[in-house]
Amino acid sequence: MRSLIDILDLTPAEIDGLIATACDIIDHPQAYADCCRGKKLATLFFEPSTRTRLSFEAAMYELGGNVIGFSEAKSSSASKGESVADTAKVISCYADIIAMRHPKEGAALVAANNASIPVINAGDGGHCHPTQTLADLLTIWREKGRFTDLTVGFCGDLKFGRTVHSLINALSRYTGIKLVLISPEELKLPSYVKKDVLQKNNIPYTQTTSLEEAMPQLDILYMTRVQRERFFNEEDYLRLKDSYILDPKKLESAKPDLCIMHPLPRVNEITVAVDDDPRACYFKQVLAGKHMRMALILKLLEEASV
Ligand code: NCD
Repeated sequence: MRSLIDILDLTPAEIDGLIATACDIIDHPQAYADCCRGKKLATLFFEPSTRTRLSFEAAMYELGGNVIGFSEAKSSSASKGESVADTAKVISCYADIIAMRHPKEGAALVAANNASIPVINAGDGGHCHPTQTLADLLTIWREKGRFTDLTVGFCGDLKFGRTVHSLINALSRYTGIKLVLISPEELKLPSYVKKDVLQKNNIPYTQTTSLEEAMPQLDILYMTRVQRERFFNEEDYLRLKDSYILDPKKLESAKPDLCIMHPLPRVNEITVAVDDDPRACYFKQVLAGKHMRMALILKLLEEASV
């Protein structure tokens, strides 16, 4: 059974295929309005979410399907001690496809190994978040028209930010990618990502603590929130949370065609004054997420049916 746990589960050709489907959905939404008639998506969210869960639900409704699920662990049998493996087996009796978010790294893989229907990882702890990456890739594609020859700055919590880890993995398969990793010392990209992804694929990267210094060279700036829920103590979070705040002043040295991204939710990382800048792409990312999730649900259900 084909699931999506890690963005690398999809080949670059498959990603191109999903982008083509998403673009067709954008142009001809009516043509897809009945594609999932009679099918059910189960959204199993053991961790808070606004965009990911609701965009999965909107995606399934726009394909003519139905949705069941829960939005917090305490309303599920996990609160009684049920294992992820058992939950996956049970939900396989009710639904055709699962989208699952869980605070533990590897939980989606456990679910996929036990479900008899496709499982989509909607975020597993600080590990990965492949459908956010699909949203990011469609945004980059529509803004830049390519995945090659781009200097991409990642700024903020590169240690715990699962969207960062997944997008770096995805970009590592294209040529001419350069990364600028902007973070406080304590929130640097984990060494396993540097070793297994960047060094293995010969991706040039620099590390800095200064957003101002990095700015002029960037084609894409991917801002992130400091991931409070993954900190061991509140003091460290409070000290680090406002390390980077993007405002119009800092953008003065940026390229005129910079693409400013953020997976959202934002806390203080981007001032609202930036929202009116034509380079701000973070709300476009939100819409891209729904269209890519539609394309993904279609693909996985189609593969499951043969
Ligand atoms: C991200 C996540 O859940 O990792 N949110 C999202 O799905 N767009 C980013 C975050 O929470 O900071």
